[in-house]
Amino acid sequence: MFYYPLARHFLFKLDPEVAHELSIHQLAWMGGTPFELFFRNKLPSRPVEVMGLKFDNPVGLAAGLDKDGDAIDAFGAMGFGFIEVGTVTPRPQPGNDKPRIFRVIPAQGIINRMGFNNKGVDNLIENVKKSHYKGILGINIGKNKDTPIENGKDDYLICMDKVYAYAGYIAVNISSPNTPNLRQLQYGEALDDLLKALKERQKELAAKHNKYVPVAVKIAPDLSQEELKQVAESLLRYGIDGVIATNTTLDRELIHDMPHAAETGGLSGRPLQNKSTEIIRSLHEYLKGQIPIIGVGGIDSAMAAREKMQAGAQLVQIYSGFIYHGPDLVKNIVNNI
Ligand SMILES: Cc1cc2nc3c(=O)[nH]c(=O)nc-3n(C[C@H](O)[C@H](O)[C@H](O)COP(=O)(O)O)c2cc1C
Repeated sequence: MFYYPLARHFLFKLDPEVAHELSIHQLAWMGGTPFELFFRNKLPSRPVEVMGLKFDNPVGLAAGLDKDGDAIDAFGAMGFGFIEVGTVTPRPQPGNDKPRIFRVIPAQGIINRMGFNNKGVDNLIENVKKSHYKGILGINIGKNKDTPIENGKDDYLICMDKVYAYAGYIAVNISSPNTPNLRQLQYGEALDDLLKALKERQKELAAKHNKYVPVAVKIAPDLSQEELKQVAESLLRYGIDGVIATNTTLDRELIHDMPHAAETGGLSGRPLQNKSTEIIRSLHEYLKGQIPIIGVGGIDSAMAAREKMQAGAQLVQIYSGFIYHGPDLVKNIVNNI
């Protein structure tokens, strides 16, 4: 698309969060108007069925880019096969102190420690109601920072109750490195307890709404093989519908000498690419193909998307690649997958 390299030129002169807010604001305003022509992609249909849902193509927008669902129609016009909004929490919260996003340009990476800044689940639902997007909408849910981790489960259940009627699928984020102790929910009894509660609530809500909404769990790339195996066993035990692999990494090995490498937070983009692919490969083996995998982490080309799929992912998502390459990346991947 002719427009993005120019837009990027100006956006990259701004502070990353200012650039992000400006872009979302512009996209929200342009979505659903004739100005969509600046980013609209007319793409071939590449239908896939995953988690019992029919996707127009397997390329999705990853969580965190449109946290509050402000620009759903604009992202829909770009041709994404699905859009994941959130992470949202039960109550609005400001997130961590700024600055909290850093571009690692030589690596085409991003470090962020946003900390689930969002306007709360009720605001998100209002935005979803207003949108005209007809594709699959995932809603990614989390816990408020000031909810003690022992009560974290309650926050997920509050969000689940509220979003159930509006979501194509629900993504449960237990892998952000930027909410203290959140990642503890990926282990042992805490994980089992959460998954059990989510499945029970899903059953009740399915009966109430007469609609089955799949639940996918989003995991970190920083799990050891033994930990990953245990996560897979828990997901299988409770019949979770999907797994999103992966969130950002704490590992700085590949970028240790680059600008901002010492910033606290999660690293995404190209330096995460291989690490997340290897997690997907192992997970696919441990899950024995019984739970679909949504692959995310450093996808910056059709080949990178193919590698994720070859490792076992049935769907893919992009975030950082989209920041560096713009809406053309969606087109390239869908055309060549
Ligand atoms: C600035 C930023 C904010 C993010 N916020 C969220 C979030 O709120 N929830 C979530 O599940 N993942 C979040 N992510 C992680 C992405 O969804 C994705 O898993 C990760 O960035 C790896 O994909 P990528 O390499 O294509 O960026 C965020 C990533 C970035 C860069």
